[in-house]
Parts: sequence; structure tokens; C-alpha cells
Amino acid sequence: AKQWRGVLHEYADRLDISDATPIVTLGEGGTPLIPARYLSERTGAEVWVKYEGMNPTGSFKDRGMTMAISKAVEHGAKAVICASTGNTSASAAAYATHAGITAAVLVPEGKIAMGKLSQAVAHKAEIIQIQGNFDDCLDIARELAANYPVHLVNSVNPDRIEGQKTAAYEVVEVLGDAPDFHILPVGNAGNYTAYHRGYREELARGAATTLPRMFGFQAAGSAPLVTGAVVRKPDTIASAIRIGNPASWELALAAHADSDGYFGAIDDAGILEAHRLLSQEVGVFVEPASAISVAGLLERAAVGAIPRGARVVLTVTGHGLKDPQWALKRADGSEVAPTVVPVDTAEVADVLGLVRGG
Ligand code: F0G
Repeated sequence: AKQWRGVLHEYADRLDISDATPIVTLGEGGTPLIPARYLSERTGAEVWVKYEGMNPTGSFKDRGMTMAISKAVEHGAKAVICASTGNTSASAAAYATHAGITAAVLVPEGKIAMGKLSQAVAHKAEIIQIQGNFDDCLDIARELAANYPVHLVNSVNPDRIEGQKTAAYEVVEVLGDAPDFHILPVGNAGNYTAYHRGYREELARGAATTLPRMFGFQAAGSAPLVTGAVVRKPDTIASAIRIGNPASWELALAAHADSDGYFGAIDDAGILEAHRLLSQEVGVFVEPASAISVAGLLERAAVGAIPRGARVVLTVTGHGLKDPQWALKRADGSEVAPTVVPVDTAEVADVLGLVRGG
């Protein structure tokens, strides 16, 4: 069987690359689009989950990073830099090292998940913890890139969004058309912008007959696109989207207007409840930020904003193994600890409630 070759090879004819572009790929993209029966039955819609945790470094960032690093190398870059809540830094570190260049990553001190920090360390990035939030990190990364020989690979680099739009191509390819609604988490709003662009292109070339309504969700403590104002001290357990001043604010507003979109906020309890549902009822393990897509769907369905039978795609952006601790807590906050039993088959059967021969 033929192996998936990564988004730059698969979509070479639709991206701004040439024979001069050295393609740096780890095989990103081609992620599963999973029908979610539980969510469909619960909402009356036809719900699909785009599982972006299945990318090489465990998040959707890889789609943008293959493009950004390939173009950086094409332009002769020897070093890249990014600010990150964790996933961008993991992806930049992996793709930079694969390309044989160096990566520096700026992260908010103590505010990125252990799995993501481990990835950046594993791929030998230069890691600097900034005593501030993500927005402070991005300000510094932009200043460094403007004044020093380092290439910025945050989503303010247009190559990132160009790579990320391929996820919309894949959805259209699998469904045979665009969905009616696309729901996803929003931090910097780069991915929201990227999906909208991908769907717009699919409509323009006749591969789709409709443009999905783009529904983006932010954590209630970090919801500048909902409130319309920068959040100075963003707060949420969903550390990936703990962002108070989205880099793609203007682009996202345009995508929102063009698609009759929606921005909503979900509190941390709602995010964790959705995380449990997705794990327990659908069998898809994600990091908390990703679960906001599910919470957003349920919230919109509850107010009657999603018609019965509508086709809805939820992007879940990052793998559960990035930040697994949340699975080990119950709704009431207590810790889950599996029962300990001696080496005794009958006792294990007893604990499991199994009846011999039953
Ligand atoms: N979901 C996850 C898991 C993320 O890591 C991010 C962003 C988002 C959603 C939001 O995407 O910023 O395009 O609106 N993470 C960035 C990072 C900020 O540094 O990894 P967005």
C-alpha cells in the first residue's frame, strides 16, 4: 500500500511551493475523520470528529510547521523561533531538528503541559521560560525575529496558515462536500482562519457546494474574541488556548463575517465535562483545549442553533497524551486510582464482578 506523504507532497499543486522548496515532512496530515455516534444521537446532527492528535507530534500544528520550516529552509534560515503554549514548540522542535536547523522556543513559565515540554526537550530545542503569559512570549519572539537572524514560525507567519488549511481539504475529500458547521477551539485564531480559507478554496474550485458556518470556542477566562477586548490576565485549565490577544484577530473576524460564524465561551467545568464525554462515549482522547469543540457543539445544540440532520465537523486539535493528568480526576475533583489486588485470579474476578461460568 502507498504511504501518505505529508501535506506538501499530497497537495503540492494547491500550495505555494516549487522545485526549489526542500520539503521537510514527518508525514503529517491524512488524519482520521471519525463519525461520532454518541454525539450525533445526543444532538440530532450528523457529527464527525477530525482527530488532529494523530499528527506526528500529536497536534494540528504539524500541518503548518511542515510548510513554515520548508519555506524557512528554502530561504536559507539556520534557526527558527516561536512563542508557544506548548504544541507549536513541540512541532517546531521536531521539524527543525528533522531539517537540521535549530529551534528556540519561548514558553510561559510553568504553564505548558509536561508532555509538550518533554517533546521540545527531546528534540533539543533551546527552551526559554518567560515569566509572563503567551502574549508576552509572542511579543518577544516577534521582536527577536525582526532584529536578529531567526525566522519566526508562529502563525503570524502566513506559511503556517497555508499549511493548516489542508485539513479542510481532507474533510471535503472524505465527506464529498463541506459540512454545514465546523466547530473548533480558538486561541490565536490561526486555525479558525486556516479552515475557513481551505473551505473557501474548495467552494471556489467546485469541490464543495457550500461554505460551513465557522463556530469557534474560547475558554471563558480567555475569550477576547467573545468579549471584543484583550484579556490582560487570561486564565483557564486549557493551557493551549490561554491567550488574551489573538495574533490572527483581524483575519478571524473576516472569516467569521464571511461564514456567518460564531464565537462562544465555555467555562473550565464545561471543558472538562466535554473531555470526559469524548473519552468515555466516543473513545477519542484529547487534551482539554480540544474538548472545547465538543462543549461548544453541545451548547449550540442545546439552544437550538444546530438544526436536526445538519452535518457538523469538530476539530479536536491535540492528543490526550500531551496532558493526560485530567483523565485521572473525577467531576468532583477526586483522584482516580485503579484498585490494587494481589496475584490472585479469583480476587481479580471478584473485583470485576465476574461470575464463574456466567
Ligand atoms: N488547540 C490546541 C491543542 C492548541 O495547541 C492551540 C494553539 C489551539 C487549539 C488554538 O489554535 O491558536 O490557531 O487558535 N496552540 C498554540 C501553541 C498557541 O503555542 O501551541 P489557534
